[in-house]
Amino acid sequence: MVERIGILVVSYGSRAAAMVDAFSRSQEYEAELYVADKQRNPFNLKMAKEHVVIPSLDSKEIFKFAKRHKEDLDFGIVGPEKPIIAGVRDLIEDELGIPMICPTKRYAIEGSKVAQRLLFEEVAPEVNPRFRVFDPKDYRSLEDVKRDLYKWLDELGNMVAVKPDAPAAGKGVGVWGDHFRSREELLDHFMANFEAGPVIVEEKLEGEESSFQALCDGKHLVPLPDTRDYKRAFDGDHGPNTGGMGSYKDRGDTLPFMNEVDREKEKQIVERIFTKLRGDGYNPELRGIPFYEAFIHTAKGPMILENNSRPGDPEIQNILPILKDDFIEVCLRMVEGTLTSVEVERKATVVTYKVPPNYGGYADTFPDKVKKGEVGTPVVLTEAENLKAKYGDDIRIYPGSMELRNGETYALSSRTVCVVGVAETIEDARNISLEGIRAIKGGALWYRTDIASREHIEQSIRHMENLRKKNL
Ligand code: GLY
Repeated sequence: MVERIGILVVSYGSRAAAMVDAFSRSQEYEAELYVADKQRNPFNLKMAKEHVVIPSLDSKEIFKFAKRHKEDLDFGIVGPEKPIIAGVRDLIEDELGIPMICPTKRYAIEGSKVAQRLLFEEVAPEVNPRFRVFDPKDYRSLEDVKRDLYKWLDELGNMVAVKPDAPAAGKGVGVWGDHFRSREELLDHFMANFEAGPVIVEEKLEGEESSFQALCDGKHLVPLPDTRDYKRAFDGDHGPNTGGMGSYKDRGDTLPFMNEVDREKEKQIVERIFTKLRGDGYNPELRGIPFYEAFIHTAKGPMILENNSRPGDPEIQNILPILKDDFIEVCLRMVEGTLTSVEVERKATVVTYKVPPNYGGYADTFPDKVKKGEVGTPVVLTEAENLKAKYGDDIRIYPGSMELRNGETYALSSRTVCVVGVAETIEDARNISLEGIRAIKGGALWYRTDIASREHIEQSIRHMENLRKKNL
């Protein structure tokens, strides 16, 4: 007899649809899903035993939903960072005793970029870019802060990234050459962040980015294969930063522009951070994906850009469809503190997102490309779903910022829907993903056409080779 397991899924976007999919495919358990969602996600609605919409993802509302189903729930899992940082695990575990898969508030180190930099400085200073923290508490006048800031810019030759302490505070992360090209523009960006709290100004690094995610049960760290995220809105890595327009994973654990040494270094660095936070024994407060590190591979090796305390979106969609282990079993082992390894199929995966006209400033930048007659029309997934007859499990369609309304589905403001292609090579996985994306109709949606393209990957390989040569 298959055992019934009740699971609370806190959902924002396609990442949670991928989790819901992984749970529903369990062979060992019958998943009964209770989904607290940002919107009426059509996939989650279909799969859930009970589905509630909490647009704010407010922890207290999520807690109330969990309380109503206390007797049905064996564990919960959280996708988005907001409730993790707000302490949703602490609330639900302390009050209801339902084990949660995400770090506690104390270990959600994503909540403070300053705390992250200070932690890395202690544990792995060699992979920390040079940085300075500007804290409003330390300054009495704008003149004082401007003097110190400009002195620091002199030292770094203006090549800096400006980052608010709290995620998405002020204007968010800004980089010299992209978001500002003069000190005046930089100061504008800096002040918008400084008004919201402490700001880090750190050296801008040149290199190629990788996303490193690891599952953690509080005792063991289980690294997942590296993935590459495409943050910029437009083809050729132009335009503003987004949540991620797509991502790829190669067959093995590394990426085409990395080598085994880079991967080993990444693992060692994250292991050092983990050991520092865990101490000698067992720290279940770290359960979940407390370390999703954005690395940048430079001439000198990997450096750390940031630490997130949750699965990456779209990066976790590259992994879950090819997890060989039963995802419910993996979660139960995380709760028990017995997760020592997971197996992932030796396959390539490519994720491409389709997004609405205003996302990433597309409609303003390319007004002529927007299919005006389609703006606001229903988004139709039927043709893409029909591709399952051709590709089976090698195509997955995960709705994200999409809403079921009167029997039809509509795009909301964020990333609408992603298609995952699975194959033996990146090229084949990409073709499946793109075929699925092209089969999604309506809503004037658009997408990046160069996610995991041969040209883009070859360019990143050449870039890395040139950087390494410079360092010889
Ligand atoms: N892919 C970026 C993120 O999940 O934050």
